[in-house]
Amino acid sequence: MSGTAGRFVCLEGIDGAGKSSHLEPLAERFRARGHEVLLTREPGGTALAEALRTLVLHEPMDALTEALLIFAARRDHLQRLIEPALARGAVVLCDRFTDATFAYQGAGRGFDESVLRTLEGWVQARSGGLRQPELTLWFDLDPEVAAARVAGARAPDRFEREDADFFRRVAEGYRRRVAAEPQRFVRIDADRPREQVAAQIEAALAARGW
Ligand code: TYD
Repeated sequence: MSGTAGRFVCLEGIDGAGKSSHLEPLAERFRARGHEVLLTREPGGTALAEALRTLVLHEPMDALTEALLIFAARRDHLQRLIEPALARGAVVLCDRFTDATFAYQGAGRGFDESVLRTLEGWVQARSGGLRQPELTLWFDLDPEVAAARVAGARAPDRFEREDADFFRRVAEGYRRRVAAEPQRFVRIDADRPREQVAAQIEAALAARGW
C-alpha cells in the first residue's frame, strides 16, 4: 500500500449479520501492519453525525426526511473525518456506508432510488467522480436467521422494529448492489462460526495483497 493514498473499506449487511464484532479485530490487523486506522460508522462518526444518528434511529419521520438526515450525516462525516484520513494515507474502516441507504431506504422503505442517486452525487462528489469504498465486505445472512439473532438482544431501534418483509427487501437490495458492482464487493458467508467468518475476511484482504 502506498504511503499517500488511504484505503476505504466498508462492512455491510442486514441487522443481525454480525459485522460489528469483526471491526475492532480488523482495525488491529491493519495497525499491526503499521497503518493508521480510522474505525468509524454510519450514520455517525462526527459529533453532528452522531446527533443525527440518534434522531434517525429513534424519532418518527417520513422517508424523505430520513434520507436527507442520513446524507447530511454522511456529508459531515466525509468532510471532517473520512476525506482527511484518506488524504493522510490512513485505512478507513466504516461500519455501513451508502449501500445501506440503497438497501434500507431504497429497497426496504421503497423510497425513490433516483432521489438517493441525486443525493449521493451531491454528498460524495469529488474530483473525477464519486467517493466510494474501495472494498465492501458484504455479510450475507438469511433474513430469518438474522432476525432470530437480533430478537431480544436489546431495545430495538426504528429499523430493528421492522417486520420480516422489510428485511427480506433490504437483503434483496444488498444483493442487487453486489450484482451491479461485483468487483467492489466480497461476499462473506455470515452463517458460519465466528472464526470462519474472520478467515473469510482475511482471505479477502490477502487476495488484494493487503
Ligand atoms: P447498525 O449499523 O446496525 O448499528 P447497531 O449495531 O448499533 O444497531 O445500526 C444502524 C441502523 O441504521 C441499521 O438498522 C441500518 C440503518 N441505516 C440505514 O437505514 N441507512 C443508512 O444509510 C445507514 C448507514 C444505516
